[in-house]
Amino acid sequence: MRPLIFAGNWKMHLGPQGAREFLTTFLESYTPTAGREVWFFAPAVSIATVAALVKGHAALRAGIQHIHWEAKGAFTGETSVPMAVEAGATAALVGHSERRHLFGETDRDTGLKVRAALAGGLRPVLCVGETLEERERGDTLAVVRRQADVLSGLAPDELARVLIAYEPVWAIGTGRNASPADAAEVHGAIRQHVGGLGAPVDTMPILYGGSVKPDSAAALVAESEIDGVLVGGASLDPTSWQAIVSVRRD
Ligand code: PGA
Repeated sequence: MRPLIFAGNWKMHLGPQGAREFLTTFLESYTPTAGREVWFFAPAVSIATVAALVKGHAALRAGIQHIHWEAKGAFTGETSVPMAVEAGATAALVGHSERRHLFGETDRDTGLKVRAALAGGLRPVLCVGETLEERERGDTLAVVRRQADVLSGLAPDELARVLIAYEPVWAIGTGRNASPADAAEVHGAIRQHVGGLGAPVDTMPILYGGSVKPDSAAALVAESEIDGVLVGGASLDPTSWQAIVSVRRD
């Protein structure tokens, strides 16, 4: 059995004060549900605030959006895994499409970051997804397989701590969604591929992301291949976030 994971990616929103207000409101109406986890990928400066507020809630977790693979050094502007852990993060996004497409992150970088996260005690959420051009060329599966190949060579106990988020680039922040059936098909292909790399596919969560909203979340998580959602815009409003984390899974 895989848990159902609802992960909010706050991107460059909610500094410490905003994070505190958000979580205070969220926690007022949050009721834990067995088998469900809620993760918050906050800006680095807000992680300590989030971690302090979710402390004691077993199903809530603070995460970092972007890490460097070195533990320390002359890397202006970067945050290392030990620093994120010290601030209270227990997970890290790796290879988000905005990092890949706006900041030039490569597969080599994501491979190093996955390894650094695992070595330092963070659960990496490896983000994969095709651009619209790649999709129209029929390259979706080739692209996500290539991006997932950075997991090759990891030990079984390392692979057991990895998550994948399938986020078609054309669906992020655009209001467009892959249909639940299309998304599930890609998830199935990813699962099969990483299984070939030695990943424990029965337990590895694969999340879907890209313009997930309260009214689209239920149909996505109704697919048995979709183990949760990674949400940007709709995770910033406590009311829509509350609606997403409490969708029914029939
Ligand atoms: P979105 O972002 O929900 O605003 O499309 C998703 C993401 O980038 O993780």
